[in-house]
Amino acid sequence: MNPLWRIAEFLAATEGRLEGGAPQPALSGEEDAGAISPMAITGISIDSRTVGPREAFFAIKGDRFDGHDFAEAALQRGAALAVVSEDRLAELSGGPFVVVPDDPLKALERLGVAARARSHAKIVAVTGSVGKTGTKEMLRLAFSLLGETHAPVGSFNNHWGVPLTLARLPEKAAFGIFEIGMNHAGEITPLTRMVRPDVAIVTTVEPVHIEFFGTLEAIADAKAEIFEGLERGGMAILNRDNGQFDRLVGAARARGARIVSFGEHPDCDVSLVGLIEEDSGSRVTADVFGESVQYRLGAPGRHLATNSLSVLATAAVLGESPSAAGQALSQFSAPVGRGARTQLRVGEGSFTLIDESYNANPASMRAAIALLGAAEPGANGRRIAVLGDMGELGDQAPAFHAELVDNLATARADQIFLVGPLMHHLWNHLPERVQGAYAETAGEIEPILLDAIRPGDVVMAKASLLTGLGRLVAAMKERFPAKDPNDKEES
Ligand SMILES: Nc1ncnc2c1ncn2[C@@H]1O[C@H](COP(=O)(O)OP(=O)(O)O)[C@@H](O)[C@H]1O
Ligand SMILES: [Mg+2]
Repeated sequence: MNPLWRIAEFLAATEGRLEGGAPQPALSGEEDAGAISPMAITGISIDSRTVGPREAFFAIKGDRFDGHDFAEAALQRGAALAVVSEDRLAELSGGPFVVVPDDPLKALERLGVAARARSHAKIVAVTGSVGKTGTKEMLRLAFSLLGETHAPVGSFNNHWGVPLTLARLPEKAAFGIFEIGMNHAGEITPLTRMVRPDVAIVTTVEPVHIEFFGTLEAIADAKAEIFEGLERGGMAILNRDNGQFDRLVGAARARGARIVSFGEHPDCDVSLVGLIEEDSGSRVTADVFGESVQYRLGAPGRHLATNSLSVLATAAVLGESPSAAGQALSQFSAPVGRGARTQLRVGEGSFTLIDESYNANPASMRAAIALLGAAEPGANGRRIAVLGDMGELGDQAPAFHAELVDNLATARADQIFLVGPLMHHLWNHLPERVQGAYAETAGEIEPILLDAIRPGDVVMAKASLLTGLGRLVAAMKERFPAKDPNDKEES
């Protein structure tokens, strides 16, 4: 087995020096024959609670904590060494430490750059207003079948997540998948220059964090920064259905990228030809550069089916089989809080909970409401929407909330429960017959909602994280036990 980093390479890349003892046994030129040698670093960590044996711990300074305060704890847990800054060394005891002249985050970035430099992997980077993590997971599934594939856990898409993921890229990986996110202009440029993608995907451009930007065009320009790091001859995979498509094409061309379009428009290089939505997933027919590809996507929703086209496009431009990539996507599933479904028992039957409580913005809210519309309630069941405030929308926030009335009508929502001051703008627009209840907080609406649920219902809950619908979902799961999947009773 290959180590992630040999000590000598690690020191050279981080520009660090060893203090407080060498990782055992000796430092000099040991080679790794077969088993992992003691001179090998097996992983990179920035969290002392989860650091594994023989991993290198980087003491990163966050908003609330400084990793230097946990460096000794990390070593006690078995870390091979801790990377610390020169000016904090005096207050630390034990070791081994790799002391760097500046900030350990800078050292992590340098290690990431070194990982990229030694790699022969095909590198894919995903950005966009929504759908980054889901697309990243689809890429992981599709490429894992073809060769060793490295992708981040979770989102890991910011100024520490990207260099951390890059520093973890195994030397022999055949594919590297990266998620790059941002809240402000200028954040993507340094990250994409580290990652140097061969393929850059922009899922879509939507009014997310728009209070920091003002206009959609400004958001598109910030996403387009991803092309700044594109390798020579690289590809830009872009959503043609999105209003910012032309702007993104212009930016990508200016960086010498080849453009590949995906979406519903028939002129796309990779287009959606057919979609059959089922509660447990979608049957997709795509046209991939003229070839018809059929596959099953393991989670429902038109938006996810569209995202999956970018995965087939990536396979095609990297010379792999789009059809094989499509087959891998049957394994895709919606994560907890992002569309995961559970059957919960109520009375003599059960209802379906669609948990979208993790976060929300206008685009993902509309997608989730459409999911509710596509779901089939059981006999006498209803479509119930439980929606909470969406944050970071600035002046336009009331309008973004109020206009959901049309989406709810299209989705044939029968009962609507709303939480939060901004949702009051929507409440006033709802026809009386669909008004379930309105409350300022999740806690206030909880007893009313729990009493309203009946067998056969489909309940979809979505809001920004701060609105706290996670608590409401937990309350439903507490009150209504999960249905045994072997239980044949129909609701
Ligand atoms: N193309 C899309 N349009 C609208 N909503 C989407 C799209 N793709 C994903 N979503 C929704 O956005 C939310 C976040 O998805 P995720 O893949 O975690 O995105 P990100 O990593 O960009 O935050 C989920 O609720 C998901 O269903
Ligand atoms: Mg994400």
